[in-house]
Amino acid sequence: MSRARLGLLLVLLVLLGAPAVSRAAGPLDQPGYAKAVTCAACHGASGNSRSEAVPILAGLPPAYFKKAIEDYASGKRLSAEMEPFAKQVKLLGVDEVAAFFAAQRREPTPVRPERAAVERGRAAAAQCASCHGPEGQGDAAKMVPALAGQPAAYIRNQLLLFKADKRSPGDEPLTKMKAILKPIPDATLADVAAYYSSLR
Ligand code: HEC
Ligand code: HEC
Repeated sequence: MSRARLGLLLVLLVLLGAPAVSRAAGPLDQPGYAKAVTCAACHGASGNSRSEAVPILAGLPPAYFKKAIEDYASGKRLSAEMEPFAKQVKLLGVDEVAAFFAAQRREPTPVRPERAAVERGRAAAAQCASCHGPEGQGDAAKMVPALAGQPAAYIRNQLLLFKADKRSPGDEPLTKMKAILKPIPDATLADVAAYYSSLR
């Protein structure tokens, strides 16, 4: 192909590509965005929470996300903050909202936990790796969420809830994890939370 023709082809490609680029430019054009917009007040832009008490939703596996919504809506997972929003998500269509958050790029918490706590937590976290993965990356096929980069305060709080069997009580797939957590002192759970939060 001559240089002139190649140049023409490139110009054509750019022109053809332009409308696609501008279509994708607005966040409102992402499927599910309009249904997820109220979540941003607490869960941050694109589900990347910058609050220590609120979990990051970006990249959560859809099956896990849907279970969380069901559990909040039914009261199995007690949260005064989440219950009304879980009910709203069910009305809007949980599949679309779950797909939206699953497609967002996860940005870990910017808060760096104390290094000594991270080191103490590393050893205790060894017993979690069989399900949560060696890097805390989770296992979507088994509905195990990633822990890496979640805010430490959120992880710690959930560990205390699991330990007291207050989160999703009676859930069969969680009995093993709850049994592992039971003998671990609360201070060690805080260290484990710091460890997972520090992972990238
Ligand atoms: C008023 C603040 C607030 C709003 C708005 C909110 N959330 Fe939440 N969300 C929370 C808090 C706090 C938690 C942690 C609750 C707990 O202790 O289990 C949470 C937890 C979750 C979880 C569990 C995540 C995990 O890792 O298990 C999901 C899923 C979720 N929210 C989805 C949503 C969606 C979808 C919306 C929008 C329709 C939304 N939230 C709106 C505060 C909020
Ligand atoms: C036998 C498998 C298994 C083991 C071992 C295990 N977990 Fe889990 N973990 C799960 C599953 C499954 C869930 C999803 C809970 C649900 O369905 O609500 C979970 C959820 C969690 C959550 C909630 C995350 C979120 O986004 O809300 C935390 C925190 C957690 N695990 C920490 C740990 C820690 C720390 C250990 C080790 C001390 C551990 N887990 C060991 C299977 C396991």
